[in-house]
Amino acid sequence: MSLSVALTKGRLESGTVAMLEQCGYGTEKLKNKGRALVFPDTKKDIRYFLVKANDCITYVEHGVADIGVVGKDTLMEGGKDYYEMLDLKIGKCRFIVAGLAGNNPLEKSGHIRIGSKYPNVALEYFHSRGKDIEVIKIDGSVELAPVLGLTDGIVDIMETGATLKENGLVVYDTAYELSARVIVNKAAFKMKRDEVMAFIRDLEGVVNNAEEN
Ligand code: PRP
Repeated sequence: MSLSVALTKGRLESGTVAMLEQCGYGTEKLKNKGRALVFPDTKKDIRYFLVKANDCITYVEHGVADIGVVGKDTLMEGGKDYYEMLDLKIGKCRFIVAGLAGNNPLEKSGHIRIGSKYPNVALEYFHSRGKDIEVIKIDGSVELAPVLGLTDGIVDIMETGATLKENGLVVYDTAYELSARVIVNKAAFKMKRDEVMAFIRDLEGVVNNAEEN
């Protein structure tokens, strides 16, 4: 049976395609994609499609994609109806709490406002520390929120730390380590078990090789 695989475009894209290539899969169409959105594997009975991170979970949960590759940050924020099968150990970054120098939101008493693309993660993090917060959902350039005085701090992903540094923000805590994960639709895990497991094992081999070298 053929497999449909949803890949997250953007940050994780090139690393994921490189891993598929190391599996011996036919990634030519994914590498020369133009404006296409669906890409047949030129060697295996697989079709890939490139989607935004949140949509990757949606396609997998609805069974349109049997498998998805998506960041743990997106998985932590929402969606639960899938199996998380493998840590690809690429796209490594972390959830951090940051704010202006001298203004640690974790030490603020009274009303705390936090800006985040990940409101559920932000709430859970502060609740686990016994703090109630108001989260203001920000869709991009989250670092602006404390700089302009909209919030006391942010919960966001940090990769290199360059964006925080350039905007004069300080990391006050690292909340969680993150990386790309492979998720599987629950029905596909039963109905296409051999194909799904072969795909997972191939990628697992690449992860293990990378760790040994
Ligand atoms: C993410 C994140 C930070 C930045 C961190 O944003 O929200 O802004 O990357 O990366 P760094 O630590 O390497 O500087 P993204 O680039 O996805 O864009 P966005 O702000 O438009 O969401």
